[in-house]
Amino acid sequence: LGYFTFDPGFVATASCRSSITYLDGDKGILEYRGYPIEQLAESSTFTEVCYLLLHGELPNKDDLSKFDHTITTHTMLHEAMKRFYSGFRRDAHPMSTMVGVVGALSSFYHHGEDIHDPEHRKITAHRLIAKMPTIAAWSYRYANGQPMVYPKNSLDYSSNFLHMMFSMPTEEYTPDPLYVKALDLLLILHADHEQNASTSTVRLAGSSGANPFAALSAGIASLWGPAHGGANEAVIRMLQDIVDSDNDVAHYVARAKDKSDRFRLMGFGHRVYKNFDPRAVIIRKTCMDLLAKLGPDNEYQALFDTAHELEKIALADDYFVKRNLYPNVDFYSGIILLAMGIPLNMFTVIFAMARTVGWISQWNEMIADDDFRIGRPRQLYTGANTRDYVDIENR
Ligand code: CMC
Repeated sequence: LGYFTFDPGFVATASCRSSITYLDGDKGILEYRGYPIEQLAESSTFTEVCYLLLHGELPNKDDLSKFDHTITTHTMLHEAMKRFYSGFRRDAHPMSTMVGVVGALSSFYHHGEDIHDPEHRKITAHRLIAKMPTIAAWSYRYANGQPMVYPKNSLDYSSNFLHMMFSMPTEEYTPDPLYVKALDLLLILHADHEQNASTSTVRLAGSSGANPFAALSAGIASLWGPAHGGANEAVIRMLQDIVDSDNDVAHYVARAKDKSDRFRLMGFGHRVYKNFDPRAVIIRKTCMDLLAKLGPDNEYQALFDTAHELEKIALADDYFVKRNLYPNVDFYSGIILLAMGIPLNMFTVIFAMARTVGWISQWNEMIADDDFRIGRPRQLYTGANTRDYVDIENR
């Protein structure tokens, strides 16, 4: 192999130095800037976590109120973007819309922008964090043929998103505080996760000096896949299938173990966590609390009970135990989103909204790093040896 190692899937390659997120997969530890995820989930808010990820320290009251104010000044999208939405198919998956819209924003923020100027990088981060809820909610409104709702800057981040999703010009809408809190928690838990596929994509795309909105759009595309952020949508489809099939959980577990079947238990397994995913523990509890508040006859209980049953069976099964496969962040999060009235195809969009701060913090860190250079993996060549070109008549 000469001077480089062969590492498909980057199982054992550190591609960068980073001081943002710490992850210990054996112990189930996740920390943002040194703060345990459990403490942030319990006590923080999403915009405070955004500040922490971007700046490295928790804000004081004044810092946070200035930061919140700055974010709200960037929540609007250029009016021309409204017309851009109408170029998409009505039934387009909102992730495809998001990839397009975020990429298209590079056309508004390109001239005169200098990625090597920290001040410009900061404004880029603010713009992206602020505009993602608007972009996300508008993809939903467009798909439903409903009028786009402008952001309401008197609302906090999560309330504002729910407002843009669900309010109608015909009646007053007040987001339910229970859902606002649950959404804020989900955003905190998804905000960063070191060098996962989408973050590495943003870094690699951005390492050529590309426009950050374009680099983020590449990250959103990567997140969409079912092995990554698309799993939250796939989990609910799987649970619904199980419920519809008279709860034949064992059959689905058997399918997941059968190597001739491509089916996998969605929301199970993780490249780094080999003991438990600390985010899944918090989300399961939040899900239980939320459903308890909705009462025993709530329509999501069957999905939760099935998920719980699946978890119990799988965790007692040799196949999953030997391979260290546990429920991950996506296993219970979808049930919370469904209960909030969020449609299935918006789940990964919400993941992208949360992860934006992680992507842009990592991009910023990369550009500011003294070792910053273009990302350029090598390969193990397995093709033909040198041979002479043969004229087409003689082949
Ligand atoms: N169901 C059944 N078997 C599985 C599963 C699963 N969910 N996940 C892994 N395995 C098996 C896999 O078949 C392999 O078995 P063997 O050694 O016999 O060939 C072994 O476990 C190792 O799997 P791998 O694919 O080499 O592991 P990986 O680290 O490359 O993949 C993963 C990690 C998350 C992509 C994978 O576990 C998976 O596909 N899970 C289901 C999708 C999912 O829930 N994704 C969300 C991940 S967390 C949130 C995020 O990243 O966005």
